Amino acid sequence: MSIRTASLNGVATIEIARPEKKNAITMAMYEAMAAALVSAREDPAVRAVLILGQPGIFTSGNDIEDFMQRPPGGAESPAFGFMKALMGCDKPVVAAVTGAAIGIGTTMLLHCDFVYVSDEARLAMPFVGLGLVPEFASSLIVPQLLGNARAAEKLLLGDPFGAAEAVECGIANAVLPAAEVALHARRVAERFNALPPGAVQATKRLMRRARSAAALETIAVEGGVFAERLQSPEAKEAFSAFFQKRKPDFSRS
Ligand code: COA
Repeated sequence: MSIRTASLNGVATIEIARPEKKNAITMAMYEAMAAALVSAREDPAVRAVLILGQPGIFTSGNDIEDFMQRPPGGAESPAFGFMKALMGCDKPVVAAVTGAAIGIGTTMLLHCDFVYVSDEARLAMPFVGLGLVPEFASSLIVPQLLGNARAAEKLLLGDPFGAAEAVECGIANAVLPAAEVALHARRVAERFNALPPGAVQATKRLMRRARSAAALETIAVEGGVFAERLQSPEAKEAFSAFFQKRKPDFSRS
């Protein structure tokens, strides 16, 4: 198991811990993260959730080998279960990002409440380069946050962006030195111990209400296209190229 969970001083921690594979998330890891979010939600002693990666890597996104062997099946997939639990979590979710946050690594940040990034953080949504499409409402939220022109750089070209841009466009709250990110994020999460949980959770629900209908509708559409794209020759070429450590060749696509 490459997910570590803990509950301490009102904060449920979910730590992605698979550094040898750059914290790529397998189906089993998605299931563990979803279960941790559900128990955090149900445990009255938990006031906030903290999501952590490892030094130098938040996550390299979906495990591509898992994708090739067991293509996720829409709303039943473990990734969907995790994102549903994240989006349905009434308690504040704080993320601490040191290093790269790729694919779903960036997508999940769009659904956290507080995001703290290290100065070496790099966010990227390279779905197109993998023959895929954005997922979990990122095709809606990224243009809303960045405007169409900059969203096109991130989603159509898959250009990575750094910590300062993540803060400037409202994906992240602040940039901190790498050694301080996790501690700062924990301190923010612990502040909810002194606040009334009913008001916090009601406020979070209100803040999300307006966009949730559009987000859910977008997720359903994206999910259908994503599942089709996973079976495409473009995606197969991109995944094979990744494991063969070569550039993909889309010239015959
Ligand atoms: N899925 C499966 N395995 C992955 C992975 C992923 N998303 N990301 C990294 N790995 C594996 C590599 O295959 C490699 O395994 P190996 O040691 O058995 O060969 C190991 O993790 C280390 O990765 P490597 O690419 O050598 O590290 P790096 O420091 O050169 O690059 C990244 C790090 C994150 C930039 C690079 O691994 C990467 O681009 N990963 C894919 C990101 C991606 O496209 N994610 C979207 C998925 S939808």
